[in-house]
Amino acid sequence: MTRYEELLQTLPQDPKTWLVTGVAGFIGSNLLETLLKLDQTVIGLDNFATGYQRNLDEVQSLVTAEQWARFRFIEGDIRNLDDCRTACEGVNYVLHQAALGSVPRSINDPITTNATNIDGFLNMLVAARDAKVDSFTYAASSSTYGDHPGLPKVEDVIGKPLSPYAVTKYVNELYADVFAKTYGFNTIGLRYFNVFGKRQDPDGAYAAVIPKWISAIIKGEEIQINGDGETSRDFCYVENVIQANLLAAIVEEEAAASSVYNVAVGDRTSLNQLVSEIEAALLDQGLKVAVSLRHAEFRVGDVRHSQASIEKARIELGYDPVFVVRDGLRKAIAWYISAN
Ligand SMILES: NC(=O)c1ccc[n+]([C@@H]2O[C@H](COP(=O)([O-])OP(=O)(O)OC[C@H]3O[C@@H](n4cnc5c(N)ncnc54)[C@H](O)[C@@H]3O)[C@@H](O)[C@H]2O)c1
Repeated sequence: MTRYEELLQTLPQDPKTWLVTGVAGFIGSNLLETLLKLDQTVIGLDNFATGYQRNLDEVQSLVTAEQWARFRFIEGDIRNLDDCRTACEGVNYVLHQAALGSVPRSINDPITTNATNIDGFLNMLVAARDAKVDSFTYAASSSTYGDHPGLPKVEDVIGKPLSPYAVTKYVNELYADVFAKTYGFNTIGLRYFNVFGKRQDPDGAYAAVIPKWISAIIKGEEIQINGDGETSRDFCYVENVIQANLLAAIVEEEAAASSVYNVAVGDRTSLNQLVSEIEAALLDQGLKVAVSLRHAEFRVGDVRHSQASIEKARIELGYDPVFVVRDGLRKAIAWYISAN
């Protein structure tokens, strides 16, 4: 039995209180769904900047009334310390997901990204430290590898950030580390690599490539590839990310605390391959599509290739990603078809 399988069995017998910030967003709402299904008590904090009430409504429809009653939602802002303090009261484990994602958004508006991702992060650290929570797990990012060309990415070899967003995520790691050294407050950072799955927003200028393309292809719309299509990413299905969060929250090993971990599959898919995989997955669902493609310039701030080493998370957290890209795409596409 893997450590995660064991955890899924033991958690419902010993329920805890979890705070999920960014709970109305993509990853946050998936964490909420899993935790409620495990009979946990969950406090959620969100200001609906990029999250949606419909995500919370969908989770409600997927759990029992008894499980839903264990969820308390606070509409609030992590830029407001009082909101963070209220949310942290009585919490065992914090899963801090709230942030403004997207490299282009941060290039267009670095001030708001900074306020949310750095000031908001610091507020959450202070509130969680003062509330004496058992652990503070936060969403870090593969963007921290910046301009370092080495592959696969290993946690302690990083380059210079390539965008304001990447700066904010790196600063999160620096603050988390300093809080460990200064206050003995232990934190675990999870460097997510291009996460995808159900409830990820396909709309708007800052949508991620997988939901944007799936949604466009289903509707018969043209998709745009920035560059030659050989740009590659270690795309990671959201269930793997949930696993990493739960394992990180409960890990007891001293060495794991105040550390950062890559959360990915350890594989690499080019954008050209991704188009073919989406086509194949749609065909599996009975949808034969003719994808129409347009090529545009490379985007400023984008890294060319990304692939993680997940050995550290495997060894220290017991992380064992179950979903490779192909499996995850099939699950995600089924959801986008039903949601359209
Ligand atoms: N999706 C990815 O591929 C990916 C990759 C690396 C890191 N991350 C990180 O994972 C986390 C979750 O990302 P996601 O993909 O679910 O994005 P998302 O935009 O769907 O979710 C973020 C949530 O945070 C909320 N939020 C934003 N500002 C807030 C504020 N000031 N106060 C309270 N809530 C606020 C939003 O309303 C939203 O519900 C983020 O920290 C993001 O930077 C995501």
